[in-house]
Amino acid sequence: MPLKLELIAAACDNMGIGINGNLPWRLKTEMAFFTRMTTSTNDKNKKNVVLMGRRTWECIPKKYKPLQNRINMVLTSQITDLGHEAIACKDIPHALDTILQMQNQVERIWVIGGSRVYKSAMESPNFGRLYLTRIKKKFECDTFFPTIPNNFVLIEDAAVPQGVQKENGIEFVYEVYEKR
Ligand SMILES: NC(=O)c1ccc[n+]([C@@H]2O[C@H](COP(=O)([O-])OP(=O)(O)OC[C@H]3O[C@@H](n4cnc5c(N)ncnc54)[C@H](OP(=O)(O)O)[C@@H]3O)[C@@H](O)[C@H]2O)c1
Repeated sequence: MPLKLELIAAACDNMGIGINGNLPWRLKTEMAFFTRMTTSTNDKNKKNVVLMGRRTWECIPKKYKPLQNRINMVLTSQITDLGHEAIACKDIPHALDTILQMQNQVERIWVIGGSRVYKSAMESPNFGRLYLTRIKKKFECDTFFPTIPNNFVLIEDAAVPQGVQKENGIEFVYEVYEKR
């Protein structure tokens, strides 16, 4: 079975995902959804990978780094060694090769941003799914989710809450896409 990349992102009305190295919003339930999806495994002996760009890695507050109970992998051309906290890889094919070496310990591969990593993952032959939270509000952003290809179609996943969610007066919807 080829390895599948599953993307998870939250974007607002203008498709913004970040500002000044942070999330533009604070939504506890959405963050809990991210943690549950990226952490939970069917096989308790396995962990999921969270694959991210260097900036996203640098933006995670120290106390949450590395993201716990997950194998942290960082795409970067600048850093070769991130110590025991994370595995540095130069691109997605290199990350997939590295994961193949430890395939028996890995259940799912979550691509957690940012922009260029999402784009590369959507263009990759290993693309599997996109889990996209649509936040129904406009926020000022400096980082954006790339254009979703026309051949991506909405599907249902029983693990994802259906319908409009609401927190602090902000509405959002969990969507799941696969390639047609
Ligand atoms: N809303 C969300 O769901 C969400 C998710 C993630 C992040 N964010 C936000 O997005 C912002 C950070 O994202 P960003 O787009 O600015 O940066 P990023 O993608 O996290 O990091 C960019 C860096 O990652 C490396 N990189 C990216 N794509 C690569 C590829 N395909 N192959 C090899 N290396 C690659 C490069 O590192 P080198 O320069 O070291 O080569 C590049 O400079 C923050 O504001 C963060 O809060 C939001």
